Amino acid sequence: MAIPVIDFSKLNGEERAKTMAQIANGCEEWGFFQLINHGIPEELLERVKKVCSECYKLEREEIFKNSTTVKLLNELVENKSGDKLDNVDWEDVFTLLDDNEWPERTPGFRETMAEYRSELKKLAERVMEVMDENLGLPKGYMKKAFNKGDGDNPFFGTKVSHYPACPNPELVNGLRAHTDAGGVILLFQDDEVGGLQMLKDGEWIDVQPLRNAIVINTGDQVEVLSNGRYKSCWHRILATTDGNRRSIASFYNPSLQATICPAPQLLDKQTQQLDLAYPKFVFGDYMSIYAQQKFLQKEPRFQAVRAI
Ligand SMILES: [Fe+2]
Repeated sequence: MAIPVIDFSKLNGEERAKTMAQIANGCEEWGFFQLINHGIPEELLERVKKVCSECYKLEREEIFKNSTTVKLLNELVENKSGDKLDNVDWEDVFTLLDDNEWPERTPGFRETMAEYRSELKKLAERVMEVMDENLGLPKGYMKKAFNKGDGDNPFFGTKVSHYPACPNPELVNGLRAHTDAGGVILLFQDDEVGGLQMLKDGEWIDVQPLRNAIVINTGDQVEVLSNGRYKSCWHRILATTDGNRRSIASFYNPSLQATICPAPQLLDKQTQQLDLAYPKFVFGDYMSIYAQQKFLQKEPRFQAVRAI
């Protein structure tokens, strides 16, 4: 079994209906799919790989080598306790937002990543429009819900991660299993070093590396907005002994002030009466809970935010 691979350029041609159906299937049955021919220039993607790898070498590697995670793993190996590290991730990560500090010493990093983020944001909006249409919602519904109307203020971030080769991958995760909190996630993963898995029907499935593809997955907010039609799904990254995995995840999340609830068009009468629908809440409140409960089940998060 492999994650669906969908040719996004076919949306504009004779195979539009088939492609829409493939994306609907990717959202409903998988929660994960890969886009090829997505319109992001190859030349830009090659530059992104280059500046992120250089940034790791120049500005991050030393920090990771001296990190608590590395120390904890060394201690564990020395103690031979047989335990596993279950409170940390074998990951070097930083997040790019429009208004936070970015790495400064890597030539070309800022310009390239600013250009990349602007392209990815547009791709996210195109993907959301496809979801609107597949869900039977008015065009632009999801974008409006996430932006608090017609503005342009989603919480759009880009996580630049590396998962360095790990001497004891059986003792630590690259990234512990979780569902994503936000809206639509667009992942540009390593061409060669795998490790990402998603949970489908109780089975962990590899998200196979595919050169210059963009992996799409849906977060908890799309699950709420779609009233459970598009479930956010569990995923994790395994640590590996070979290679330093590069992974760049951009997330198009609601504004922290946005109110999120199921689209009324997707509620059936029975659900409304029984109050089984997902809660209505302010996204910032959800994020406060998520920060404490990222690696736990999502249902208690929905319960907790309902109570606020
Ligand atoms: Fe994630």
